[in-house]
Amino acid sequence: MRFPDGFVWGAATAAYQIEGAVNEGGRGPSIWDTFSRTPGRVHAGHTGDVACDHYHRYVEDVALMAELGLASYRYSIAWPRIQPDGTGPVNPRGLDFYDRLTDELIGRGIDPVVTLYHWDLPQALEDRGGWTVRETAEAFAEYAQIVHARLGDRVRTWTTLNEPWCSAYLGYGNGVHAPGVQDPAAAFKAVHHLLLGHGLAARALRSAGAQSVSITLNPTAVAPLDPANPADVDAARIVDGVGNRIFLEPLLRGAYPDDVREIMARFTDLAHIRDGDEAIINAPIDVLGINYYTPTYVSAKPGQPASPETPGSEGIAFRKPVGPITDIGWQIEPAALTRLLKRLHDDYGVPMMITENGAAYPHGPSPEDGQVHDTERVAYFDSHLRACLDAISHGVDLRGYFAWSLMDNFEWAEGYAKRFGIVHVDYTTQRRMPKDSARWYQEVIRHNGLTD
Ligand code: NOJ
Repeated sequence: MRFPDGFVWGAATAAYQIEGAVNEGGRGPSIWDTFSRTPGRVHAGHTGDVACDHYHRYVEDVALMAELGLASYRYSIAWPRIQPDGTGPVNPRGLDFYDRLTDELIGRGIDPVVTLYHWDLPQALEDRGGWTVRETAEAFAEYAQIVHARLGDRVRTWTTLNEPWCSAYLGYGNGVHAPGVQDPAAAFKAVHHLLLGHGLAARALRSAGAQSVSITLNPTAVAPLDPANPADVDAARIVDGVGNRIFLEPLLRGAYPDDVREIMARFTDLAHIRDGDEAIINAPIDVLGINYYTPTYVSAKPGQPASPETPGSEGIAFRKPVGPITDIGWQIEPAALTRLLKRLHDDYGVPMMITENGAAYPHGPSPEDGQVHDTERVAYFDSHLRACLDAISHGVDLRGYFAWSLMDNFEWAEGYAKRFGIVHVDYTTQRRMPKDSARWYQEVIRHNGLTD
């Protein structure tokens, strides 16, 4: 039950989900500040204003990471702290914060893995079109260089984007995430400009000497409900195209697939895709980050309206989760992770890291002993680590695993109502308390694997 030598064990967070201090240190507003302040957008009107107050408590938080034995920590940089207006003047106090955090990590022997964009676009850029316009991709590359110039002497692993699927399809497709736009054409333009931003940034990072460049995707582990039914198989092909291959193919093979181009062309004239863009997007990466939580099953269902986060999915039904589900309603199926990793390995042969995996459960301190007994989360991690081992035994080049999340935090549209942390956060006192899953994970890390 051992993982390969050198396997990287970590935990992940994202800036807007944990930092708080939204008006401090010269930070400008992001689309999530605007969105969370818009009535009806986020559960119970929650915002990231305070979150886990990590901006002020990072020293304590890094000490906790060290206590848990994390070898690596994946965190994101808030672009609006670095360039409050999205472009132009750099805010030195923003860079100073990440400089201190990075030093603190290194001082504790924890390897920093930086994500440059985890959804908090400067509002000023959204006001100029956000990810639907090319200028945002260009601005992103400039921002990447600014951050690298400051942290590049200590940070080895750089991830450009986190889950561009969500930025594009939840941000501009179904509108459940900031900026809350509902327009399939905008969603497809966002996909392209996110990818272009990745490519431009990857090139810039590489020429500045970055050791490892990556992007994190959340490929849907999509399967036909009835594999023997050709119509269901075709439904899965479409969902795989719009959700997965639209990112994977230009990134790893340098071109959008024809069937995906056809779907995009139903909504836009594709003028936003310029000659040479796909070659830029195809910039070499060293490792592909994979976030996995739950599978998707689809079937053909004539007359079914398209799902707004999957433009072009008319006539396709998404099955409601069945079997065991987590507190956020996501079906638990570790075998789907193995299947996904094998497929990505077979099709693209790329080294991978699990940059997020985890489960929402509501446990708080027990009245008996004050500890957090999140048995279901332990079971979720255990089964998914076994799924990773299974994939590795089939030849998948999997290099690391990051639990989502280090601590309970602002779960986007769900606010603070859903808890993904291995560390419990009491939002009234900001007290952190490692849950049973954190203690369990500590042992996994110590043994480089599962003990039975
Ligand atoms: C993926 C996202 O990257 C992260 O921000 C989010 O909290 C988790 N999934 C759980 O939904």
